[in-house]
Amino acid sequence: QLADSLYIVNGFAQQYFSKVLLEEEEGQDIGLSYLKERGFTDTVIRKFQLGFCKEARNAFVTEAIAKQYNSELLVKSGLAAMRNDELVDNYRGRIIFPVHNTTGKVIGFGARIIKKNDRAPKYINTPENEIYIKSRILYGMYFARQVIDKFDECLLVEGYTDVISLHQAGIENVVASGGTSLTTEQIRLVRKYTQNLTIVYDGDAAGVKAALRGLDMALEEGLNVKLVLIPDKEDPDSYVNKVGPDAFREFVASNKKDFIIFQVEVALKDAGNDSQKKAAVVNQIAETLSRINKAEDFTKQQDYIRQCAQLLKIEESGFNNLVNKFI
Ligand code: GTP
Ligand code: MN
Ligand code: MN
Ligand code: MN
Ligand code: MN
Repeated sequence: QLADSLYIVNGFAQQYFSKVLLEEEEGQDIGLSYLKERGFTDTVIRKFQLGFCKEARNAFVTEAIAKQYNSELLVKSGLAAMRNDELVDNYRGRIIFPVHNTTGKVIGFGARIIKKNDRAPKYINTPENEIYIKSRILYGMYFARQVIDKFDECLLVEGYTDVISLHQAGIENVVASGGTSLTTEQIRLVRKYTQNLTIVYDGDAAGVKAALRGLDMALEEGLNVKLVLIPDKEDPDSYVNKVGPDAFREFVASNKKDFIIFQVEVALKDAGNDSQKKAAVVNQIAETLSRINKAEDFTKQQDYIRQCAQLLKIEESGFNNLVNKFI
């Protein structure tokens, strides 16, 4: 019942915000011109149902109340907030990115500020409620799932704008995690469509660390994980805009690195010449490899054991025994 009401108010809000962006002067002058300046085309703006929330205190709230949506629902949905006994819009002056579930219904929103500043967060997201359950959401899955199935590969990026820019470049098998580490539920969602996950992140430490945290779970669910690091402080959105679709594709194709091997290399670099640290790395990698389901992927596990033993400069049979101790 509450869930149904949330879907309905979100659908109403999405249509309202899109209309403001595309048809009203304030939306066009502030929102649409911002999106155009960033290079987004009408096609993707419409496909992803982007919108704009006016700067006034309660432009959306007023429309919603007139349509009989009650204030409790508006607060629950995250569209409005109570300030000094007054119901006000939560996304004032922001670009609206609707978040869809896999059947295409709007379950929530990301709202981006136009000009970054230190006082307000860059993005505001819908709070957890009956239908917006962050741990289960991968932004863009509704638009990507058939293409993921077709190419048997899912690209994972950090943000809304990365997903949209890659679609614009003709790369449609892409979803976003919102920059946090993957949950088991998100991994299972990917697993419904493909076994092959390629993480395409900017090379900064935070992004990669977040991605690494999801690795063990991904292995347990039987995913093959590859990693592509976008260079020079760029992210997939800015990089594809810089080099163009063809060069971007080529970059991804030729820079895919196996994620387990990547993890070994990073850990070894961190350990340096410290033999205690190195022993810890050996243990950690053995544990990681033990998570590969032996019954299903015996050859895969053996391949990794061989490759990792080489990288770690240790004897293969001893390392094999260590991996098996964790099982
Ligand atoms: P643009 O700057 O518009 O290109 O967005 P981006 O996707 O490049 O942003 P960034 O790389 O900083 O962050 C990646 C993702 O993390 C975003 O798409 C959001 O989902 C999320 N995120 C970023 N900033 C915030 C924030 O201030 N609050 C919250 N809750 N999420 C954020
Ligand atoms: Mn398939
Ligand atoms: Mn980052
Ligand atoms: Mn980014
Ligand atoms: Mn960006």
